[in-house]
Amino acid sequence: MGIASSSPKLEPLSGAPPYPPGNPPTESKIRLGEELFFDSILSGNQRRSCSTCHKRELHFMDGLSRGWGLDESELSRKTPGLLNVGWQRSMFFDGRVKTLEEQVSKPLENHREMALDPDEAVARIRSDPFYVRLFANAFPGEEITFGLVAKAIASFERTLVSYDSDFDRYMLGEEAAMTPSAKRGMELFQTKAECIRCHNGPLFTDHDFHFTGVAERDGHEKRGTKYKTQSLRDSLRRYSYMHNGRMMNIRQVLEHYNRGGSAPDGLEAEIRPLGLAENEKDDLVAFLRSLNGRVHRLTGGFPELEETLPEAAPESSAPSSADSGESGAAVDDPSYLNR
Ligand code: HEC
Ligand code: HEC
Repeated sequence: MGIASSSPKLEPLSGAPPYPPGNPPTESKIRLGEELFFDSILSGNQRRSCSTCHKRELHFMDGLSRGWGLDESELSRKTPGLLNVGWQRSMFFDGRVKTLEEQVSKPLENHREMALDPDEAVARIRSDPFYVRLFANAFPGEEITFGLVAKAIASFERTLVSYDSDFDRYMLGEEAAMTPSAKRGMELFQTKAECIRCHNGPLFTDHDFHFTGVAERDGHEKRGTKYKTQSLRDSLRRYSYMHNGRMMNIRQVLEHYNRGGSAPDGLEAEIRPLGLAENEKDDLVAFLRSLNGRVHRLTGGFPELEETLPEAAPESSAPSSADSGESGAAVDDPSYLNR
């Protein structure tokens, strides 16, 4: 076991995510991508958009343990939020796709998610004067292709960021930004609890894949599969935890790590029992809460910051003993729904 990489660090996050050379963000591209993201034109039955599952008012999650399929049954994985997704180095829990641009066609091609042939999506878009105009602005002189649809949506996704958390402000010198409990939790995170082995850097992930002994819920996944280390930013706002949404609150996650995972017989997880006391778990939760950021929307010409989005998802765990009062109220503003 031992410390994995050369002394990993915790770092604040700020600015704007990187973008591929062929797709610099512009105001008109972002505007187009936003329209497409919220438009059910991209689904076979014209009733689903990306935002059916990635809802803006829920920090681009769906509020469920696992995604909900077109066939009225649960998907095997949860819907990840899209805040800070521009900094991810691979997409999906298994990282099977590398870039945001590449990712866009996948939910369309999935017959349980949006079920629409990307060529058919392009045909629909080409015959819609509204989109013809937006594409002409965003990509002057270029023929509308699915590649451009993907570039626009990816540009929109890169505008969704969350930082300025208590942790960020503390790291930038504001000593009082974190509570004493959160500070103790931060220390534990880097020592006894060993979280920093995998959750490090500005996004609290090593961008790598590990088997952490999450018992598979159903037969969908191969036993012992390695999954992408999840970012811990805004993790207390999630509705369920782990790739398969098997854990419902942060306490269950900590119990899981504390007992060294729950791998089936014969499989060895990359974690081991930690022997954390109850007050130490409280401190870790306080630290994780200090990673809840302020949600921003970047505008064209990164990295200008504009338009702070409303506080959204409720905190999913909220142990009573914890300090710091984070409101658990979900903002229910219909103007954000499927525009
Ligand atoms: C039916 C619900 C559903 C719809 C509709 C949907 N997604 Fe997702 N999305 C998911 C689920 C579930 C995952 C995780 C799948 C996996 O890891 O295998 C995911 C993963 C992603 C990821 C990867 C994020 C990460 O951190 O790894 C991105 C980006 C994404 N979706 C964007 C989109 C876009 C863009 C659209 C519309 C074109 C869309 N999604 C439509 C449910 C949905
Ligand atoms: C060996 C690497 C490793 C270590 C050590 C580790 N994690 Fe993780 N963590 C992961 C991976 C990989 C996932 C994703 C697992 C999955 O999706 O099934 C994850 C997922 C999580 C999640 C769920 C996030 C979500 O949205 O689903 C939380 C919370 C979390 N870890 C917190 C911690 C804490 C707190 C510690 C220290 C007690 C810790 N981790 C130690 C690798 C690690």
